[in-house]
Amino acid sequence: MNAYPQLYKITADRYSCRGYDTTRPVSEEMLMAALDLARLAPSAVNRQPWMFVIAETEAEREAVCKAYPREWIKTAPVYIVACGDHSQAWHRGADGKDHTDIYVAIAVSHLCLGATSLGLATCWVCNFDTGIIRETFRLPDSLEPIAIIPLGYPIEAPSERHPLRKSLDEIVHKGAY
Ligand SMILES: Cc1cc2nc3c(=O)[nH]c(=O)nc-3n(C[C@H](O)[C@H](O)[C@H](O)COP(=O)(O)O)c2cc1C
Repeated sequence: MNAYPQLYKITADRYSCRGYDTTRPVSEEMLMAALDLARLAPSAVNRQPWMFVIAETEAEREAVCKAYPREWIKTAPVYIVACGDHSQAWHRGADGKDHTDIYVAIAVSHLCLGATSLGLATCWVCNFDTGIIRETFRLPDSLEPIAIIPLGYPIEAPSERHPLRKSLDEIVHKGAY
């Protein structure tokens, strides 16, 4: 059963895009529309401890490409550095766990789905040099760069790239182990 046809389609269409149309810039309006969905993400005690830092200058763009040296990322017209603010993060009382990664992951997920619904594409990038990003964007100590999200118009259709997923049987466990 597919109870949410529109949401299902957007979720299934999102994929990790590793090639963008270098001839099509992303308008400020589209960028803000995608970020507006990230803004709606839930967070513990509604602290919203995230910041989305957009590369503006050519030097900042080059630094992103140095922090994640792959040819394909150079094709993206927009780079968003998704940061978590540890100074605002909620810590669980029982064990002190800092939930920053979780908040940022939810917000980035919203962002990526929002971008997909607008005909844009994204890719999560976490395998980057955090030192270069911290230094380039002069991030305060409390702000942790968690993911780089390249954003742009894709050069290929989503259906050509979507990797397989485990079945529900493989990921749902009823009762105790
Ligand atoms: C937290 C996280 C970190 C990731 N880091 C990278 C990365 O550094 N480089 C990359 O090319 N893809 C990265 N990916 C993308 C995954 O490889 C991709 O999501 C996965 O293979 C499933 O493919 P799909 O996104 O096309 O459905 C990352 C994904 C997540 C969720």
